[in-house]
Amino acid sequence: MAETKPKRIAVITGSTRIVRIGPEVAKFVTRILETELSSPAGGETADFTLSQVDIATFNLPVFDEAVHPAQVPIAAQFAHTHSKAWSAEIAKYDGYVLVTACYNGGPPGRIKNAIDYLYNEIRGKPWLIISYGIMGGYQASDSLKTSLETMYTHVVETRPTLSFAKNEPFEFGLPLDMRLAGAGKLGDQSLKDWQEKKSDIARGFEELKEYLMREKTSSA
Ligand SMILES: Cc1cc2nc3c(=O)[nH]c(=O)nc-3n(C[C@H](O)[C@H](O)[C@H](O)COP(=O)(O)O)c2cc1C
Repeated sequence: MAETKPKRIAVITGSTRIVRIGPEVAKFVTRILETELSSPAGGETADFTLSQVDIATFNLPVFDEAVHPAQVPIAAQFAHTHSKAWSAEIAKYDGYVLVTACYNGGPPGRIKNAIDYLYNEIRGKPWLIISYGIMGGYQASDSLKTSLETMYTHVVETRPTLSFAKNEPFEFGLPLDMRLAGAGKLGDQSLKDWQEKKSDIARGFEELKEYLMREKTSSA
């Protein structure tokens, strides 16, 4: 019987500020995903691998290619090294877990910009969107779902939202963990509160895996 390759899943850290909590949130999410993979419901551990992708490391300028990404690679090629590197990295994966902050009621501009470089690399592939913010970043999640679905990807139904704790002491009307987040530190109370979100994250991940397994079954 032919060996089937494990499905590759990227956990994407979206925020790119100089001081940021994005990598800490991605770590929190990854630990939950790893636990899910180590004790799978259907005994399918070996079917998936997790990799970390940090958009910040690609230093993407505001989209600066002459060609439309939908033409790449069949009808056109990217000219710039940064576009080629980002495109090649994202093309490697079968599915994605996107960890996004919320800036002014939408996703960080650099996430939207990074997505604008893509098309065929992600077409038909599943995404799990996990957002964080004062209200859990649901506006960023909604906006990214619209963009990704416009690009013919599949966004899984469960989109977990992680809200910062509204904890004392308040300063300038802002709770402690909100101020800490602004300074690039994930507050302990928020991390504690988010333990209750583990089941949402696990459910979204299950939906992502199911989508990937369905594909595998239909192509077997
Ligand atoms: C420019 C800017 C706009 C923000 N707007 C929102 C917002 O609309 N909703 C929200 O929940 N948090 C907002 N925040 C607070 C962020 O949720 C918080 O700073 C968080 O740490 C951002 O993620 P990051 O540290 O990974 O960049 C904003 C932060 C910045 C820097």
